[in-house]
Amino acid sequence: MDQKSYERRKRDHLQLALRPENEARGLTGLDSIVLEHEALPDLDFEEISLSSTILGNPSKTPFFIAAVTAGFAGASEINMTFARACQKTGWALGIGSQRSELEAGPDASAWKLIREAAPDVLLMANIGASQLATADIEKIHDLLAVMRAKALVIHANPLQECLQPEGTAQFKGTTGRISALCRELGLPVVLKETGCGFSTATLKRLSGAGLAAIDISGLGGTHWGRIESARAGSIKDHIKSSAGTTFATWGIPTVESLQNAVHALPGTELWASGGVRSGLDAAKLIAMGASQTGFARPALEAAMAGAEKLVEWMKTREYELKTALFCTGCRNPDVLGKKENVWKTKCN
Ligand SMILES: Cc1cc2nc3c(=O)[nH]c(=O)nc-3n(C[C@H](O)[C@H](O)[C@H](O)COP(=O)(O)O)c2cc1C
Repeated sequence: MDQKSYERRKRDHLQLALRPENEARGLTGLDSIVLEHEALPDLDFEEISLSSTILGNPSKTPFFIAAVTAGFAGASEINMTFARACQKTGWALGIGSQRSELEAGPDASAWKLIREAAPDVLLMANIGASQLATADIEKIHDLLAVMRAKALVIHANPLQECLQPEGTAQFKGTTGRISALCRELGLPVVLKETGCGFSTATLKRLSGAGLAAIDISGLGGTHWGRIESARAGSIKDHIKSSAGTTFATWGIPTVESLQNAVHALPGTELWASGGVRSGLDAAKLIAMGASQTGFARPALEAAMAGAEKLVEWMKTREYELKTALFCTGCRNPDVLGKKENVWKTKCN
């Protein structure tokens, strides 16, 4: 792979993801979910705790920064900002696709610095489902070891691979490869979408695969059909550009995708991302069965203003979640997740 064009593509992704028209706003389904207000919570606000667990590890919050970028100097800077802020707040951190590092080997010095800045952060490495056909397990181990990752995240992005001018839409045999990886890796494997969600049928096929968690990453936030359509247009790939606009609302909404997972894979650790924009959105998803909630685009936007601003943005999301917990009478996210009839679909 040509590193220069890879880097240009990754930079384009970062810029295009920040444009409002590349979000599938209003489509998560979260606007039609309400949590039941508790007028007399038997609690003081100071008693509220955000403590939760992630992949069997204690966590200060049920929040993570979802995979954004990796594999070039600019990406290391962004991941360093994320890492510093996560060290302060205790959020987990998903690294973006490490496709280029899988081929060329990880940049050990950059990861060493990031690890030094975030010794306690639960870091997750990331590769694409379409790379599984050719990925060497030893090279995957190298990626994980260099950052002392606690898990490997596999991203599924069929829509993006179709519409990306340089896409590799090769998914044949992926379910079997994911199961094999879960058996062989020796570390938790997490599967995520990238903003198009999971159907019940896909999730049922994953039952018994050995995944440690699934991040349903549904429709309603960053949309790769829109982003790749814009990129294709800028390099005059008229077919992919035009096709991308046709698929601008493709995907399974975040709420529906989470419900699919709750029913198809009971007992599986479920995370929710895709258009999660506030601590209240997160509270709704926790009430519906997610144990962790993730943010990509808004965390990137906040990080552009530096680690301090990012920490302030994170603390705001935490305060919103605490407020939702207090006003539903729940002392922590676990209690909210188990509370009967705490969420309902709005009638109007
Ligand atoms: C700029 C950008 C780059 C992304 N790159 C990756 C990636 O490399 N690997 C991955 O698994 N997901 C990637 N994602 C997808 C996110 O992890 C997430 O699933 C999706 O953006 C939905 O969350 P959001 O609406 O909060 O952005 C990226 C998202 C953004 C905004």
